[in-house]
Amino acid sequence: MIAFLLAACTPTPDTAADWEPVHVPEHSECYPSGEEVSIESCVALVEEDGRYPGVSENKSGTAADPDDPRLTDPDYLWFESEIRSCACACCHMSTIGGPGAYFWDLDYGPVWIDSASRWSLSVLGGWTEEPDQTLPSDDLERVRAVIEAEIARRDRD
Ligand code: HEC
Repeated sequence: MIAFLLAACTPTPDTAADWEPVHVPEHSECYPSGEEVSIESCVALVEEDGRYPGVSENKSGTAADPDDPRLTDPDYLWFESEIRSCACACCHMSTIGGPGAYFWDLDYGPVWIDSASRWSLSVLGGWTEEPDQTLPSDDLERVRAVIEAEIARRDRD
């Protein structure tokens, strides 16, 4: 599966000079906000990590509709793009075999945040001060506001 994805995603070079190795990001490496870590880099990172892929499930306690209002909420969409600008996204995507996908899975649908437990969200928002598992965002306050809104939603529903 991973070998197939690598083959499908790696451009075929015309000459040796055209060949550029895929950048394998560091665990907590991020691009500027709005940019995304490429799937090729993520596949390479997951492959290098070598751990067994995770399988995600709904940990939110409620079932979401395909037209869930969170899917058009600018803060939620911003939060997701912040994650996708970091290598964190790579191991948390079940479709490429990410080993951390069980804990929270960007590919879980329709609303990926439902795949994260309250505990995992508090880790992601930095309340537990795990340096490698806090989202490295320049706007941690906004990250926390999104997470707090999600926890409040779970308390309500
Ligand atoms: C190399 C793969 C990999 C990368 C890169 C990665 N993670 Fe994870 N992550 C995992 C795995 C595997 C787990 C499952 C628990 C464990 O092994 O620590 C996990 C679990 C987590 C959890 C849940 C912790 C809990 O106790 O519920 C959070 C939050 C998290 N990661 C955040 C991040 C953030 C933020 C980044 C980027 C700074 C990141 N991860 C990058 C593999 C990765």
